[in-house]
Amino acid sequence: MGKVIRFGVSMEEKLLTVFDRFIEKEGYKNRSEAIRDIIRKEFVDEEWEKGSTVAGGIMIVYDHHGRELVQKIMDIQHDSHDVIISTQHVHMDHHNCLEIIVVKGRADAIRKIYNLLKALKGVKFASLSRATTGRNF
Ligand code: NI
Repeated sequence: MGKVIRFGVSMEEKLLTVFDRFIEKEGYKNRSEAIRDIIRKEFVDEEWEKGSTVAGGIMIVYDHHGRELVQKIMDIQHDSHDVIISTQHVHMDHHNCLEIIVVKGRADAIRKIYNLLKALKGVKFASLSRATTGRNF
């Protein structure tokens, strides 16, 4: 961590009340930590919007009995082997599988993989968790 600089923040009382309620609900110990997280989140969103190198996770749930579905999921992942860091497969029950695909690469490449997986017939759930490589802040 670099040098820490203190600065004053002015805001309307009503907004501060809402903010303090948020801090309590989220379990922050102080306003500074909450503000730092909110700022970082904005920058992570910006990295994704700009198409920078980012990291994240794609989670999908599907029935592995689906015709050719497993092969299609595998093909999509092999086509993007340069972006996919690892895949964890969990057999949740006799039918359902959950996969967590950890990705690192250009935001548009990751979004493309996510969209391809999400659109497959038989994929019951898909979500993209947008994270950061952490290099810039
Ligand atoms: Ni399975």
